[in-house]
Amino acid sequence: MQNTIHIAAFAGSLREYSYNRSLLNTAVHLLPPETSYEILDLTPIPMYNQDIEKIGFPKEVETFRSALYRADAFLIATPEYNYSIPGVLKNALDWASRANADKSKPMDGKPLAIIGVGGRFGTARAQNHLRQIASHLNMITINRPEVLVSNYPKKVFDAENNLTDQFAINLTEELLKNLVNLTRQLKLPLETGIPTN
Ligand SMILES: Cc1cc2nc3c(=O)[nH]c(=O)nc-3n(C[C@H](O)[C@H](O)[C@H](O)COP(=O)(O)O)c2cc1C
Repeated sequence: MQNTIHIAAFAGSLREYSYNRSLLNTAVHLLPPETSYEILDLTPIPMYNQDIEKIGFPKEVETFRSALYRADAFLIATPEYNYSIPGVLKNALDWASRANADKSKPMDGKPLAIIGVGGRFGTARAQNHLRQIASHLNMITINRPEVLVSNYPKKVFDAENNLTDQFAINLTEELLKNLVNLTRQLKLPLETGIPTN
């Protein structure tokens, strides 16, 4: 469908029972109508090495980057590791920050929504770092609402890792609505032929 907004979603945790992957799985089911999504797995992405990039992007990186090019917007769930984002997420973003031969970059100019679940502060410090990184990648990060899910000391996931915090569910739904609305506004001029300047 022409008006469908396609979201690429990924989490910065590789562990099987990751709360952030569970939060991401909850979030994609809260996307508004006329959207599609794909969840990307960062597990196979090798460590960034500029010598390897000179030879060519490894196929796992090409797969990741192609999915980013396909997307109109992004949803990232980040854990907090040592007051920042996990290395696995930074590494993926480092690969994503590089240009193709045609000088295009897969995340350039596209909207981003950030969510995260962690300890008492609900990944606040990691999310701030991710916002900084996103600004260098020229993404448009949605400011509000912040989705900072605290899973400690009170657990907010049930035994099947479903999010049980209704307030967090509502905030996530609102953030995704804002993400899709902004993405639609940005795409509108292209689709209607209205000049952008
Ligand atoms: C290496 C490491 C560093 C961590 N650093 C922080 C931290 O700085 N702040 C915090 O609130 N939690 C920290 N944690 C706790 C994680 O945020 C928490 O375990 C979270 O559930 C991990 O996300 P996941 O469940 O999606 O894997 C750290 C955990 C690890 C393994």
